[in-house]
Formats: sequence, C-alpha cells, structure tokens
Amino acid sequence: MTITAIYPGTFDPITNGHVDLVGRAVRMFGRVVVAVAENRNKAPLFSLAERVTMAREALGGFPAVEVLGFDTLLVECARATDSQVILRGLRAVSDFEFEFQLAGMNRHLGPELETVFLTPSERYAFISSSLIREIARFGGDVSAFVPGGVQAALRARLAPAD
Ligand code: COA
Repeated sequence: MTITAIYPGTFDPITNGHVDLVGRAVRMFGRVVVAVAENRNKAPLFSLAERVTMAREALGGFPAVEVLGFDTLLVECARATDSQVILRGLRAVSDFEFEFQLAGMNRHLGPELETVFLTPSERYAFISSSLIREIARFGGDVSAFVPGGVQAALRARLAPAD
C-alpha cells in the first residue's frame, strides 16, 4: 500500500527548510502532497496562486510530490487527497507546543489520520518565512535560505518603488 503524507503550511514563501523536509519525506512515503493553506489570518505577502507556483517550481525535482492550494479544514483536504499521514516539521522546542495542540485537534477532527514530525537539517533550524520576508524587505541576502525563484519573487515584490 502506498502511504500518502500531506504536508500543510502557509509557505509564504517556501524556504530551503521546507524543501529539505520534503526531501526527507519522499524517502519515507510513496506520495507527498504539499498543501498550501490560504490562511487569511496571516495576511500573506504572496497570493495563494503565487505560493503554489513557487512551491511547484521549488519541488519540481521530486516526481512523487504534488502541490495544491486549499481553503478548507486540513482534515478535509487530507481526505480529498487520500492522505493517511499529516507531516509537520519541528525546528526547535518552541515549535512543540503549537504543534502538539494542532496534532491533538486534527486527531479529534480526523481520528484516521496520524501526525508525523520530521526535523530539518540543522542548517535550516533557525529559518522561518517571516524572517526571510523581513530580511528581504531590508534588501538583505536570503540566497542561502530560499530557492532561486523565490529570491527573484521577493526582490520583485519588495523592491522599493521608484
Ligand atoms: N523550514 C523552515 N521554516 C519552517 C519549516 C521548515 N522546515 N517548518 C515550518 N517553518 C516555518 C514557516 O516558515 C512558518 O514561519 P512563519 O510563521 O514565520 O511564516 C512557521 O514555521 C510555521 O508556519 P507553517 O509551517 O506554514 O504553519 P502555519 O502555522 O502557518 O500553518 C496550518 C498551519 C496551515 C497547518 C494550519 O493553519 C491549518 O491546518 N490550516 C487549515 C485550517 C484548519 O484545518 N485549521 C484547524 C487546524 S486543527
């Protein structure tokens, strides 16, 4: 039986840390669905369509990975994609409390789903999308932390108006 893992997040934008996690997941699961959440309460810098396109470009090298956008409960998206596992990344102890709460609530809403946590490479343990956006906003170099397409999109979106 092929096990499908759904990896949800806002991905505003996708970072090398997310890509690293997907690379680990494809070694464990037959199919990985990267589910990009609309997440209006985070007021994302990039639209859902832009975040999906950037993630598709960044993950194009993984044949077993699909990228889609969703604006429903995660458990509904998991069911619609025939996923059995919810995948989340844990970077530090500080992630744990929220992740524990999320996993508990998702278990309540979808008892048939199991949440699995993976840790990214230590190189990426301190990255977050909001830090990347902030560094890019001040013109700092984010090339070590995001795929090339994302770097270009950040530059275009955050370039000071002439
Ligand atoms: N490398 C780098 N950064 C990482 C990372 C990794 N491996 N893993 C997580 N992050 C960062 C993200 O960039 C993000 O940074 P930011 O907050 O600075 O933007 C942060 O960790 C956490 O964001 P993310 O992983 O995108 O999760 P989220 O908290 O934004 O998303 C959802 C949470 C989308 C999973 C959740 O809101 C959801 O399921 N929504 C659907 C609706 C629903 O079902 N709600 C009820 C849930 S019980």
